[in-house]
Amino acid sequence: MCGIVGAIAEREVREILLEGLKRLEYRGYDSAGIALISQKKNGDPFIDTVKTVGKVNKLQSAVKSSKLSGRVGIAHTRWATHGKPSVTNAHPHRSGEDIALVHNGIIENFEALRSVLVKEGYGFESDTDTETIAHLIHQRRVKGDSLLEAVKATVKRLEGAYGLCVIDNNEPDKLIVARSGSPLVIGVGIGENFVASDPLALGQVTDRFIYLEEGDIAQIEREEISIWHKSKKVKREITTVLHQAGDTEKGQYQHFMLKEIFEQPRVIQETLDGRVSKTSVLEQAFGIEAPAIFDQVQSVQIVACGTSSHAGLVAKYWLESIAKIPCQVDIASDYRYRDIIVQPGTLFVTISQSGETADTLAALRYAKKLKYVASLAICNVATSSLVRESDISMLTMAGQEIGVASTKAFTTQLAILLVMAIVLARRTGLSAEKEKKLVKELHKLPHVIEKTLGLHRQIKTISKQFSDKHHSLFLGRGIQYPVAKEGALKLKEISYIHAEAYPAGELKHGPLALVDNKMPVVAVAPNNDLLGKLKANLSEVSARGGKLYVFADESIKYQSEKRIKVINVPSCSEILAPIVFTVPLQLLSYYVALTKGTDVDHPRNLAKSVTVE
Ligand code: AGP
Repeated sequence: MCGIVGAIAEREVREILLEGLKRLEYRGYDSAGIALISQKKNGDPFIDTVKTVGKVNKLQSAVKSSKLSGRVGIAHTRWATHGKPSVTNAHPHRSGEDIALVHNGIIENFEALRSVLVKEGYGFESDTDTETIAHLIHQRRVKGDSLLEAVKATVKRLEGAYGLCVIDNNEPDKLIVARSGSPLVIGVGIGENFVASDPLALGQVTDRFIYLEEGDIAQIEREEISIWHKSKKVKREITTVLHQAGDTEKGQYQHFMLKEIFEQPRVIQETLDGRVSKTSVLEQAFGIEAPAIFDQVQSVQIVACGTSSHAGLVAKYWLESIAKIPCQVDIASDYRYRDIIVQPGTLFVTISQSGETADTLAALRYAKKLKYVASLAICNVATSSLVRESDISMLTMAGQEIGVASTKAFTTQLAILLVMAIVLARRTGLSAEKEKKLVKELHKLPHVIEKTLGLHRQIKTISKQFSDKHHSLFLGRGIQYPVAKEGALKLKEISYIHAEAYPAGELKHGPLALVDNKMPVVAVAPNNDLLGKLKANLSEVSARGGKLYVFADESIKYQSEKRIKVINVPSCSEILAPIVFTVPLQLLSYYVALTKGTDVDHPRNLAKSVTVE
């Protein structure tokens, strides 16, 4: 995913910008570039640009051997969506000699805008949607608008998502930035200011940040920052972030697992940023070739291991109910040794946190010999083998996950899979109105997860009742069955309590025999059509002396009784429920393990990345 850094200072900014890009490397990219407002010998300002394909250190070497210098500038790491990775397609993009800009996100109506610009005589050097924005700004500038007015007018014409940072050598003392659907943060300095798509990029120069809100446009000068929202000048709070605990530090948390559980609202937001506009999903975010590939898809084959395979099982329900597309999910270690019959029009999807899981990689290599439409990797590591060997990929933005038990990787995988289901559903008749409704729900997700994390104290208390148990059952119905499976996996992985997940309707076909007063039974009960049936299954448990722990949507007002402990989960729509209900189960397993005193982050016998068969 793309990254933006900008700076305006009294000192040289090129090293600040390059360091910022280095810090954004973890997000994945294929090319990088930098533009500074330099001075000609006669003192006139001009924009000087250096761009390279590949890693930031390539850009660093190119900059070193150039004369690039300046106190105002912008820089960018690009992950191709429109046009292949190349120097011409790398940002910053120019319009004439005067304007340069960097952009994160996708402009959905760029083709229409581009053809209008071409008719007006603008020539295009790149295949990107971004160059269109540079020319639109230029068009306003020649009509007499200031740079700020030109950007304000231009963003009104853009559909899709953008985080923008623009410079103009005719107004060399400012950066103009705008955000909608892609994050931007202003770094506040003394006599100098900065901008970035992620505050991490600016950790070396400031600890004071202004988080821009959706629709904000700002003018950043050395001594002043002015922000507008819907044409009104607004004040935004400055937040001091004394020390941003990186992915490899625990910060205030006792364990990485707990930290990673609590990071979920932020990383889910970051995973959605630039992939979803206000009203629709942005399918180009899957890569340049993605739309043509998705056009051919009639069914989906998902292959993964462990937690990632549970994400696949949830996705099966979404693909079938939203996209009306059949989906098969296989465990990679099983798939790779089977005789596979590929139905025409099948997309092969792998899901993996690490992108190095031996069985998943072997399954991909096997699948590439078969007649799939293409391979898509949903992965958390941009440089992994899985991403490199797949035709297209979509990165989860979970950041590095250190705890062996996967938490934030799982929920960000689910967020991407839901986006994928919507993208495919467009081709099978999902109306723009329905898409808008689903996207509206997706935008609520970080907030609902944040509220759900508020259950941690209550869950810590009940976790004590599990610490002397040796066995447990997890129940869910329909799309909640994989959620129950994930809950059971978490518990056994870090607390070493045997945990078995069942579709609740299967109980009476065998596992009910296990139920007695020593067997805790955990159930997930969202507010959906299967609730009545689930309640009936749960009565079967309490009638046999089993102790139930029911995580129930608060709107259903499930009542605690002698043998039933109800934990009310913040209400959410059916579509978000698998993601939301995962969170209390993660917390439950964490607190049970904490009480038992096991090694939460490094459970016995397990490795974070399983690179052997
Ligand atoms: C889950 O908590 C485990 N760490 C494990 O099941 C994991 O999901 C599995 O090994 C797959 O790893 P991957 O996502 O990196 O491919």
